[in-house]
Amino acid sequence: MAEKNMNATLTFGDKTITMPMYSPVRGPDVIDIRKLYAEGDVFTYDPGFTSTAACDSKITYIDGDKGELLYRGYPIEQLAEKSHFLESCFLLLYGNLPSAAEMADFNARVTRHTMVHEQMHYFFRGFRRDAHPMATMVGVMGAMSAFYHDSTDITDPWQREVASIRMIAKLPTIAAMAYKYSVGQPFVYPKNDLDYAANFLHMCFAVPCEDYVVNPILSRAMDRIMMLHADHEQNASTSTVRLAGSSGANPFACIAAGIACLWGPAHGGANEACLQMLREIGTVDRIPEFIKRAKDKNDPFRLMGFGHRVYKNFDPRATVMKQSAAEVLDLLGVHNNPTLQVAKELERIALEDEYFIEKKLYPNVDFYSGIILDAMGFPTSMFTPIFAVSRTVGWISQWKEMVEDPTQRIGRPRQLYVGEPARDYIDIEKR
Ligand code: CMC
Repeated sequence: MAEKNMNATLTFGDKTITMPMYSPVRGPDVIDIRKLYAEGDVFTYDPGFTSTAACDSKITYIDGDKGELLYRGYPIEQLAEKSHFLESCFLLLYGNLPSAAEMADFNARVTRHTMVHEQMHYFFRGFRRDAHPMATMVGVMGAMSAFYHDSTDITDPWQREVASIRMIAKLPTIAAMAYKYSVGQPFVYPKNDLDYAANFLHMCFAVPCEDYVVNPILSRAMDRIMMLHADHEQNASTSTVRLAGSSGANPFACIAAGIACLWGPAHGGANEACLQMLREIGTVDRIPEFIKRAKDKNDPFRLMGFGHRVYKNFDPRATVMKQSAAEVLDLLGVHNNPTLQVAKELERIALEDEYFIEKKLYPNVDFYSGIILDAMGFPTSMFTPIFAVSRTVGWISQWKEMVEDPTQRIGRPRQLYVGEPARDYIDIEKR
């Protein structure tokens, strides 16, 4: 962050406040308003944080107008083509691509931690079978700090490292267990000779009574889904993790908070909501009715899987995901199922419709990921848990960056109070 050769000046009433400006490596300049309240006795007002940079970060960069996404400077398209999920995890966590020896070591450290404490199996059994797997995951993730006390001291760099590896390693196991529990099948232990994505598919789809061989095209597609979701700078769940962590909360609790936030349909829950919407539309001839509803200001309905706060041109993850979807559907011979037909036609109509063009609403990553996961045999309720597994490394990288920043302070937004002014208490018999 370089100080800019220019200040911003704000004048109101009889006050003039001068504020420094900084130039980032990429992206818009920022105005440092930290002294605004002390010097001007005013707050800024920015619900939804549309104009607020809450931190500085070296991890991920998005240019929403260009449709660009970089992990530590590397374009997502190059990573999707040449890298794999665990290598991208190393990149996000440590800042650079690993050497072959570093990759082998990281791989060994992650795979050594894939099992969960055996006692956690009983914890799962406390949930109802029909619980949403995200509900189970929030609970089990939160409970991890009760199982791994030896990595909850955030002031110890070694414990921070162990906690990070544990979460990257165990989240697929926890998500697969949540799935197995919901369908009444036995838990499948991790198989460490499989790669990260293949191991996840194995834990989800293998059963003890027969062999399950993971199809490499499907595991590659799963790896890509994970890589494309691995980080996305200061989105809602990442900001939740940072805010929770800013109080000094332990990393397992912070990631549980991130999972809870991710679940919402405007964020990670959109992939599930999108597929449910495609099924609700049902047939191509009903699409105009839903497009009409999406445009109606008095109807809360939105086309799920369309639009993004930051991307206003296209979502680069969606471009890669669309290609992956074609490969997977081809492999599985899924060409004419009604959901796919509706998806293709909806995409075509929305991209040509004036409303969507004017508001810059394009299919986002969740539009295509749901189609792939559905074809692979996952129920819609597993879509957001898979997003959570993938985003864990991003959450942890951002959490570590914050904890390791010496200038870090507790996050404490202010407000524009519009409630009752001070008033005297009235005894109940006089009300
Ligand atoms: N369908 C119809 N209209 C829409 C949609 C949509 N999906 N998204 C935005 N709009 C309209 C909205 O009504 C508003 O119109 P107007 O200016 O007339 O009031 C305008 O576009 C701007 O919308 P906004 O709500 O101010 O935009 P936002 O930046 O606050 O919201 C969003 C971004 C992603 C929450 C929103 O586009 C949305 O709800 N999309 C559907 C859910 C979804 O697919 N979410 C996944 C995002 S990608 C994965 C992730 O990062 O989690």
